[in-house]
Amino acid sequence: MFDKESHPLTKLSFLKQRERWKTEDIHVNDFQLEIAGHPVMETWEEPYMKKLAEIATTNGGRVLEVGFGLGIAASYIQENSIKEHHIIEANNQVFERMKSFAKFAKYRTILHSGFWEEISSNFEDEFFDGILFDTYPIIFEELHTARFSFFSEAYRLLKVGGVFTHYSGELEFTDEYVECLCQARFKKFSSQSVLVNPPRDCLYWRSNRIMAPVIIKT
Ligand SMILES: C[S@@+](CC[C@H](N)C(=O)[O-])C[C@H]1O[C@@H](n2cnc3c(N)ncnc32)[C@H](O)[C@@H]1O
Repeated sequence: MFDKESHPLTKLSFLKQRERWKTEDIHVNDFQLEIAGHPVMETWEEPYMKKLAEIATTNGGRVLEVGFGLGIAASYIQENSIKEHHIIEANNQVFERMKSFAKFAKYRTILHSGFWEEISSNFEDEFFDGILFDTYPIIFEELHTARFSFFSEAYRLLKVGGVFTHYSGELEFTDEYVECLCQARFKKFSSQSVLVNPPRDCLYWRSNRIMAPVIIKT
């Protein structure tokens, strides 16, 4: 059972107003992307991002990525054979970095600025062949639910046979996780385990393995 109160990220203060995330300054170094004092993305995740990108591009075609971060997954997505890459990003300064990425991207890359919650309804049903979702809990209330809240939208946006994957923060499919997938009408899912090496003081992942979910719309 997930205990939100004892999660190491609760040591940090969270924004009170979600909208502020868009205009927060970002701090980038060789190790991480920090926004609003939070370790939003760390480079030890690279092998995991590579796997998620591989899963999301299994069918090629049109791929949606939610959350650009350091652009690690985006670069891996572009290493695979696709037709079009859409990316939704909420933070303005990350969005500027994404513009430079798109300029040199191999495949057509279409950028969308804002929260996915404001943007995804612009896409028609079954618009995407693959989806990679990796955002961050912006307010405390989203600490455990940020990814679950996207599941039903992922189902709507995917073609039949399309593949959805996301940062899981899990080692396996827990009962709660499976329940959320089923509520969103996903029936077919499996996982791959990825070896990672987070630093001991990482505030959001401690294990040397992390689960890459492969969720297929049937
Ligand atoms: C964990 S990082 C993504 C890391 C990325 N996968 C990579 O490989 O570098 C999360 C990103 O999602 C963005 N984000 C957070 N919440 C969002 C939302 N609701 N909609 C769109 N972007 C969001 C953050 O600003 C941040 O850039």
